Amino acid sequence: MLEVRNLVVRYGAIEAVRDVSLSVRPGMVTAVLGANSAGKSSLLKAISGLVPAASGSIRMDGEDLATLPPHRRARAGLAHVLEGRRLFHPLSVEENLRVAWDFSGKVRSFVAALTMAFDAFPVLGERRHSPARTLSGGQQQMLILSCSLIRGPRYLLLDEPSLGLAPIVVQQIFGFIGAVAREQGTAVLLSEQMASLALKVADYGYLLRRGQWVREGTAAELAGSDASELSAAYL
Ligand SMILES: Nc1ncnc2c1ncn2[C@@H]1O[C@H](COP(=O)(O)OP(=O)(O)O)[C@@H](O)[C@H]1O
Ligand SMILES: [Mg+2]
Repeated sequence: MLEVRNLVVRYGAIEAVRDVSLSVRPGMVTAVLGANSAGKSSLLKAISGLVPAASGSIRMDGEDLATLPPHRRARAGLAHVLEGRRLFHPLSVEENLRVAWDFSGKVRSFVAALTMAFDAFPVLGERRHSPARTLSGGQQQMLILSCSLIRGPRYLLLDEPSLGLAPIVVQQIFGFIGAVAREQGTAVLLSEQMASLALKVADYGYLLRRGQWVREGTAAELAGSDASELSAAYL
């Protein structure tokens, strides 16, 4: 389990995350919901070590991550998919997977890694020799997810994977994320502005507003909660 307690993240005078606590459990999708600037990316970056925590604690399977640099957190089983679909755009689908595989510790063969990606998303197999920049936004997101899963992470942080995608594509990608959590026992932390879609795949969720915790609950509780409160989280 990943446990965040009383986390604070600051950029100079800006307090981006204020006293946030949450738990992310294996086999479950946990959503962090909030508007632009709510502090979602800062929260995920503090967990993976890309920004320092000003105070509070982050524990993975009971181990305090405070002194571990990002690459050690990755080696311990944490993967972070950053906002904005970062790929090697001139490289082909297969070459992007190859780079991810090279850095993955090679826990499985490259052929097995390709098979896993192409079974999950057949369109990636059809486009395996196309440069990543020529893929649609949805296909790029599928490729990034495939790259991030090669190592077989136990904890997967996904920062707004729906950004700029059509709802039907988002549903397909969220369906895949839900299946990864259930079938592989991965603990997924999903940050999203699209609350209604995220709550369809999430088991549990937390609402953030301007860096602060507003409310938490099961996806059913949050989806059924007062609409004004959900929308208030998006101001
Ligand atoms: N590198 C940075 N330097 C200064 N302020 C930042 C930086 N990154 C984010 N912020 C500020 O922190 C707050 C939270 O941002 P962010 O974590 O990106 O929120 P979200 O991902 O929910 O949009 C915002 O006010 C944003 O302007
Ligand atoms: Mg963000």
